[in-house]
Amino acid sequence: MPSDLARGTLEDARAAVDVSTKATFGLALTFGLGGCAWDAPMSTVAARSDLARDILHVYSIITWIAVGIALVVGLGLAWVLVRFRDRPGAPLPAQTRGHTLLEISWTVAPALVLLAIAIPTIQVIFRTQAAPARDALEVRVLGHQWWWEFRYPSLEVVTANEMHVPAGRPVALTLDGPDVIHSFWVPMLGGKRDVVPGRLNRLTFTAETPGEYRGQCAEFCGVSHANMGMRVVVDAPDAFARWVAAQKAEPAEPVAGPAADGKAIFARSACVGCHTIRGVSSGALGPDLTTFGGRRTLAAGMLPITVDTVAAWLKNPTALKPDAKMPALGLTDEQARAVATYLIGLKG
Ligand code: CUA
Repeated sequence: MPSDLARGTLEDARAAVDVSTKATFGLALTFGLGGCAWDAPMSTVAARSDLARDILHVYSIITWIAVGIALVVGLGLAWVLVRFRDRPGAPLPAQTRGHTLLEISWTVAPALVLLAIAIPTIQVIFRTQAAPARDALEVRVLGHQWWWEFRYPSLEVVTANEMHVPAGRPVALTLDGPDVIHSFWVPMLGGKRDVVPGRLNRLTFTAETPGEYRGQCAEFCGVSHANMGMRVVVDAPDAFARWVAAQKAEPAEPVAGPAADGKAIFARSACVGCHTIRGVSSGALGPDLTTFGGRRTLAAGMLPITVDTVAAWLKNPTALKPDAKMPALGLTDEQARAVATYLIGLKG
């Protein structure tokens, strides 16, 4: 008979197991449900390009193999637990040792599983690393702390944080950067690709469906890593041609009012040392602002572009984005709103 002390310890242990079971179940439920979303702009299982489809194909094969293994192991375990459970007076089941067929089977089976995973994986690795098609649109992607630069050498277009690409045409990205390692990741268009200073990485895909696709830097790169978002806008071919034409057009000259004041403030401030606006300045440290007003978001996808958000950014960038490299310019509210109005008017 257990003593009172032993019984108390046993009950404590049972209570602890009970609590940890509930906690484990609760956490599993939380994470499980956390994966269920209808509005999931960064879903890895909604492929919208050939590259994403290839990766999803490998992912599905591995998932189904894993489900099969889980079923076989789970059912086998359940059968053993029921069949050989301890019953009063039951004899010890037959003990097996050194069963050649069993040992060969459980050596060969995992090897076959690995082979079944390796073949499609290696095929897709080779396919996604192949040289891009000759008609591919080349885009140079530069990862900066904490924004993205997109250069189209064949089109002489430079933009930031929002990359436009035509649907149905291969896009060949070359990725590089001036500061630290970043990672380009637009889940619905394909897998991650590291952006390593001093090394040209490549990523090729053909987007299938026009729309807007969210991306995010996927390699920790400093304080504002989480604020290094991007958007890829996949345009129908004619819409893409219009976008290119707008990027190349000369920026409209503001005639009077806050926009004209804003331009004058911009032109005499530190802005010109870092930013290019074609015909106005040629700084190269920050994003090219020639068609800033044609973008949807500010600060690498953080905020919608409105006079209020842009003016707040101009007054104090680090208040909105920790450690942002742009300094506060010491503008008054009125000056900040004037510059914001000027920049938003730059639509190309
Ligand atoms: Cu760039 Cu993380």
